[in-house]
Formats: sequence, C-alpha cells, structure tokens
Amino acid sequence: MAASSSSSLCPNRALSVSSSSRSRHPQLTSLLRLPASTSSISSASRISFDSRKRNFAVRASAAPVMDHSTSASSSSPAVPTLVEVDLGNRSYPIYIGSGLLNQPDLLQRHVHGKQVLVVTNTTIAPLYLDKTIWALTEGNPNVKVESVILPDGEKFKNMVGVMLSFVPWETLMKVFDKAIETRMDRRCTFVALGGGVIGDMCGYAAASYLRGVNFIQIPTTVMAQVDSSVGGKTGINHPLGKNLIGAFYQPQCVLVDTDTLNTLPDRELASGLAEVIKYGLIRDASFFEWQEKNMAALMARDQDAFAYAIKRSCENKAEVVSLDEKESGLRATLNLGHTFGHAIETGFGYGQWLHGEAVAAGTVMAVDMSYRLGWIEDSLVKRVHKILQQAKLPTSPPETMTVDMFKSVMAVDKKVADGLLRLILLKGPLGSCVFTGDYDRQALEDTLRAFSKL
Ligand SMILES: NC(=O)c1ccc[n+]([C@@H]2O[C@H](COP(=O)([O-])OP(=O)(O)OC[C@H]3O[C@@H](n4cnc5c(N)ncnc54)[C@H](O)[C@@H]3O)[C@@H](O)[C@H]2O)c1
Ligand SMILES: [Zn+2]
Repeated sequence: MAASSSSSLCPNRALSVSSSSRSRHPQLTSLLRLPASTSSISSASRISFDSRKRNFAVRASAAPVMDHSTSASSSSPAVPTLVEVDLGNRSYPIYIGSGLLNQPDLLQRHVHGKQVLVVTNTTIAPLYLDKTIWALTEGNPNVKVESVILPDGEKFKNMVGVMLSFVPWETLMKVFDKAIETRMDRRCTFVALGGGVIGDMCGYAAASYLRGVNFIQIPTTVMAQVDSSVGGKTGINHPLGKNLIGAFYQPQCVLVDTDTLNTLPDRELASGLAEVIKYGLIRDASFFEWQEKNMAALMARDQDAFAYAIKRSCENKAEVVSLDEKESGLRATLNLGHTFGHAIETGFGYGQWLHGEAVAAGTVMAVDMSYRLGWIEDSLVKRVHKILQQAKLPTSPPETMTVDMFKSVMAVDKKVADGLLRLILLKGPLGSCVFTGDYDRQALEDTLRAFSKL
C-alpha cells in the first residue's frame, strides 16, 4: 500500500553564473583575488540557483584564494581552493589544499578572541597538534592555546547508558572541564582537529559552552573533509540511535589540509569515499562519471584526484546546506543509504563497521529498493555495485543483521514523521533522487528480507 507524504526532489546542478555575490561577503571579498597567474588553476565560479522560487539566492563558489599579506613570489605558499558556504551573515569559507597548516594566516583571520581550545584525540595529537598550535600562534603571541586530548574512537561519542560499560559522557565533559578550568571566555574559539567524531563532538561543545562560542574545523579524514565538517551538524550519539542529541552550529571556517590524508589508514580512506559516491548518485551525474574513471587514482591516494573530489563534494554539500540548512527536506537527501546504514551501525554496535562502510551497504539497499519500485534502471544498480567494490566498500550488511534489527532502529529514525518512515531513494536517471514516504511498503519489506536474516 502506498502511504502518502510530501516528497522532495533533488535538484540537479542547474546553475547559472552570478557576478554579484562577492559583494555580499566583505570578509571573503578581502580574501578573494584572482591574479592572472592563478586564474587558470581554477577560475572563480559563482553559482546562482533559483530553487523552486525560494525567496533567497544561493551561491557557492570555488576559487583560488590569495592572502593579501603574502606576495605571489616563487616562494609563496600554495594557493588554496575556496568553497563558500553561503548562509547570509553566517557564511563561511572552506579552504582546500596541500600544506595549508603551514599558512598561519588562514586560521588566524578566523580567531577573534585571545583564547583557543584545540580538541583532538590520542591518535591525531602526536601527528598534527604541534603544527596546529604553531599555525595558531606564529606571529601572534597574544593568543593563548590550550588543548584537550580525548581518547580515540566512535564509542567515545556515545552518551553513557545502561547498555554500555564505558562513560563517554565524561569525554564531552573533559572539553567543558578544560574550557572552564582555563577560563575560556565568550570570545574564545574551539578548534576541532580530527575526523568526524572529534568534529561532531567539538562542534556540540562549542554550541553549548557559554551558549555558543567560535568554532573552527580542521578535518583530517576523508569523511570529515568531504562531509561532516561542512554544514554545521554537530552532536553525540545515544545508545538507542545515532545523532539523536545535537545542534546545528556553523563554524567560522573549515581548513582542509589534504596532506593530513597521508597518515590516514586505508580503511578510513575508503570509508570517506562512500560519501563522495553519494553526492554523485543524488545530484551530480557528471561527478559520478568522473569517479567511475578515477576511483583507481583515489584509491592510490593521487593528490590531484583527491583535491578535486574534496572540492566537488564540498561544493555539492555547500549548495544543499545553503538551500536547506535545518533539513526541512532537501538536506535530508544527503542521507542516501544512511537510514539502512544507521541501523547497521546501531544494530551491529558502533565502531564495528566504520560509518562509510555502513553507508555503503545502506546505499546498496536503498538502490535495490529503488529498483524494486521500478524507479531506476538495472544498469544503475550494477554501476553502484561496481564503484563500491572498486572503493573496497561493502555491498551488503553484516550477516548477523536481522529484519527486526533494521526495523527497530528505523522506527526511531529522525526521518519518521507521523509514524511514516521517509527514505531517500533514487528515481529517474543518474543524479536524481527523492526524499519520500510515498512508496510501496512491500518493496521495503522485500529489500530488508533480501539483505538480512528473518
Ligand atoms: N556532522 C555531519 O554532518 C556528519 C556527516 C558524516 C559523518 N558524520 C559522523 O562522522 C563520524 C565518522 O567520522 P570519521 O570517519 O572521520 O571517523 P573518526 O573521527 O573516528 O576518525 C577515524 C579514525 O581515523 C583517525 N584519524 C583521523 N585523522 C587521521 C589522520 N589524518 N591520520 C591518521 N589517523 C587519523 C581517528 O583518530 C580515528 O581513529 C561518524 O560519527 C558520523 O556519524 C557526521
Ligand atoms: Zn554520513
């Protein structure tokens, strides 16, 4: 039986160039310079997107950024690519490039007060904490930088619960303890240095401490660089479901130093690619086609391929977030495969599978269901399998998952409205999707049975 619900189409990248947007962001205007020597690297693109007569314009940009204080000599640092998240007076830049942690000005221009708290973990601290502190303080001795080094792991994002023996709520408290002990004031800045777990937790701490302090993201995993650091979703997990406790809280900037990927384990690298593939499937067919040709290069950690994949992913996310910051419809489409994926993460136990691995299996399930509904061609199902296999990602859930495990977690999904589970499903040609509760329930049942035990 088909249930009724609103559905929201994913707009494709029907874009036109606008020249007026830069003037709306004076802080960015001062950063954007397009000298002849760099304009060929990546010409500035300003995108104006009239989405179904919404009464605001949306603009995302990708342009090389030059700092006025650094001259364009042969010893100049590499010019980062800029993607702008356009949210009116809460707009912020994403800087992408190699060696950006060697450019102190990029970070320092976004630190307003004199106190900074860097939040990181035991794996990342030995690799990048000193460098980050240097970037925050070089030529700026008035800034006092404190750091808090948390235990590593997804499980530490979980709140304490009767089912769990560890006490991760205390992990979040460590951030607050440090901030209070070191008398961080309202003008302080919290810096998240790490993957999605650190970013989500630090962002939530920044949103709550003194009812909100400045926040900067320095993402160090593919997952965080292409997805979690952008868009302002912060939070921690509850034993009964992922990301149920959280806040929308936008950073001052996101600094993506692609060199940090050099130390990332292969499995973590592949996990992030699940989100890259997602952007292609839901809204960017040509990006998906690019991925089909370049997956081997990405798996071989080709720097140029990665820089492009991160830029294009951030552009896609920036556009969606600019249109629908608080997830009233369109933004939900970024969760392709996540409803099934969260059930795997929760049912199988946080930390057993990486987030991107669960999303990959969940994407296959969403694609299977889309096909059962007659909404996509068989050839697309095959292409999704192939690209996930190339990225060494799973194409089915763990064997221990049962239909009931899926159903019990899906019942508390945030996308349930009036008792109806809305899903992101592919519909039409590559790059098109819907967020809808209007589907044949039997197709969902059949997909669950096809991919899990009774
Ligand atoms: N807020 C959002 O919009 C959003 C979007 C997607 C995912 N997420 C969340 O992100 C989390 C997953 O993030 P993740 O995949 O980055 O996991 P993670 O933060 O746990 O990092 C993965 C592992 O890699 C290590 N690591 C990080 N950077 C490293 C580096 N450069 N070199 C070596 N090791 C490094 C970490 O210490 C950790 O052990 C999930 O909790 C997911 O829910 C949030
Ligand atoms: Zn995700």
